[in-house]
This record gives sequence, structure tokens and C-alpha cells, in this order.
Amino acid sequence: MMLELLLNGRRLREPVEPHVTLLRFLRDQAGASEVKYGCGEGVCGACTVFLDAVAVNACSVLAVQAEGARVETVSAFAGDGSLHPLQQELIERGAVQCGFCTPGVVLGSIEAVRLGLAGDRMTIRRSLAGNLCRCTGYGKIVEAVEAYRDGEGAA
Ligand code: FES
Ligand code: FES
Repeated sequence: MMLELLLNGRRLREPVEPHVTLLRFLRDQAGASEVKYGCGEGVCGACTVFLDAVAVNACSVLAVQAEGARVETVSAFAGDGSLHPLQQELIERGAVQCGFCTPGVVLGSIEAVRLGLAGDRMTIRRSLAGNLCRCTGYGKIVEAVEAYRDGEGAA
């Protein structure tokens, strides 16, 4: 099938097999290696992308379901040589260790703040339930999301 979508503002038109996941399409055909392959079954959140502005696990969506959609990876949120404010907060607080979970954490937390689901530490932790991090223990991530919420995210 021929698939057309907008990836980080760039129009793509690519042939794709009907069974291919959006994750596989993004990584293998579109060169979006910032979208991580963790569990492959909708558990870890490493593959989080925005599909028409809604965070989804790209491993659990078929590429053809993104036909005509706007897909954004974490790369859409950092400018040339600059980081998104949440990325900056994560780095300053030591909330990035191996970094494998970080793209998903960033997108999931941007959405949580946008939807008002980051009002206190408990709700931030709940909003992170779909983003597994094996390194940090989450404490520093929660602090970074709080700081982002209180800064740029509150705007
Ligand atoms: S790779 Fe998609 S949720 Fe884990
Ligand atoms: S920083 Fe390593 S998995 Fe989160």
C-alpha cells in the first residue's frame, strides 16, 4: 500500500506492507531512530509518538492507520541545536541515564501537562505509568516534569 503522512512537518509518501507497525515504518523506512523499540507490545512506552497530537505507542499502531495523519516524534520538539524545556529540565536534574526511555517520557509528559494530568507528584507518577524507566527510579523525572509544568508548560 502507499502511505502518505506528515512526519515532523515533512511530507512522506512511501510504500508499506499492511502488517508493518508504525514503529517499524518510522525506524526502518523513515529513518526516525529517535523512536525506540523496547517491548514491541505496548507496555514500555519507549516508542511513544504523537499521532494527530495524541500520544500513542507506535508499536501498537499499524503504519497504515497513520494514513493522512500528522506524526511527531521527540525530534519535533527540539529546535536546531536547542532542547525542549522539558528535555532541559530532565538533563539538569540528572533524570537521563541510559536515555532509552527519554523520548517517550518527554512526549508522554508534554501531553500530561497539556491535559492537566500533572497537577501533583502522584498524578505525574500515574501519567508516567506507561513509560518504563529501568535506570532512574523516576524521582528525578518527576521533579523535571514538575519544573516544566511550573515553567514553560504552564504557559
Ligand atoms: S516498544 Fe512500544 S510500548 Fe514498548
Ligand atoms: S534512563 Fe535508562 S531507561 Fe530511563
